[in-house]
Formats: sequence, structure tokens, C-alpha cells
Amino acid sequence: MRFLEWEDSYNIGVKEIDIQHRGLFDIVSRLFTSRNYQTEGKYFIATLSQFIDYTKVHFATEERYMREAEYPKLDAHQKEHNEFLSEVIELARDCENKVPGIEQKILDFLKSWYIKHILGTDRDYQKSFMEKGFK
Ligand SMILES: [Fe+2]
Ligand SMILES: [Fe+2]
Repeated sequence: MRFLEWEDSYNIGVKEIDIQHRGLFDIVSRLFTSRNYQTEGKYFIATLSQFIDYTKVHFATEERYMREAEYPKLDAHQKEHNEFLSEVIELARDCENKVPGIEQKILDFLKSWYIKHILGTDRDYQKSFMEKGFK
């Protein structure tokens, strides 16, 4: 199973955010291929922890832009970020504890999150950001 192919239409138009979305995309793609690496899950766990760190940075960046833009749905958006982080941290813990089938569960979760949140929810602030002249 593969992740997605990157498409330029995934860009929002704000450079810092686009770089981070692409960075997260690349880490998730690497997770999808890492299972072939025969490292007893060590590479998977290390990559997942890299993903979590980068996600924290990304959420903080995005929330800063939303605040600056006085984006009206900031609270709901932030709630989605926080819920996602708690969930992925819990999944990472299960992964370290070698819960059976956990890698597949994480991959499914990250793929649907990327599609739903980054390619979905995040689109909603695009107009506000453009109106503020962010780029
Ligand atoms: Fe985002
Ligand atoms: Fe977001």
C-alpha cells in the first residue's frame, strides 16, 4: 500500500505552511515504505517520532497565522489539532509496545488524517489568509 502522490494543487499559497505540509507528506510517505526496511520496527518508530515533532511545529505555525488573520474558526481548528496529537501520541506508544497490527493502523490513520485535515480542514483558512496578503 502506498501513500499519495504529491500534487501542486495541495499547496495553500503561504510558503511556510506549504513547506511544512510537504515536509509532513514526505515523512508519512517514508513511513509507508519503511516497513520493508527490516529494522524490527525501529526505523518506523523513529520516523513516527520525527513526524510527531514536526507536527507540533507545524500546528504552532498554523495557529500563529490563524491568530494573526483573526480566523473565526481558530478554536475548532485548534481542537482538531490537539485531538490528533493526543491520538497519534497514543498510537506511537502502542507501537513501542508492539501491539499487533499497529503499524497498519497508524498508516491508515495518518493517510485519512492527511486527506481529511491537511487537504480538507486546512483549505478553509486559505481565503482568510489570502485576504490578509499572507504568502
Ligand atoms: Fe496544516
Ligand atoms: Fe491544521
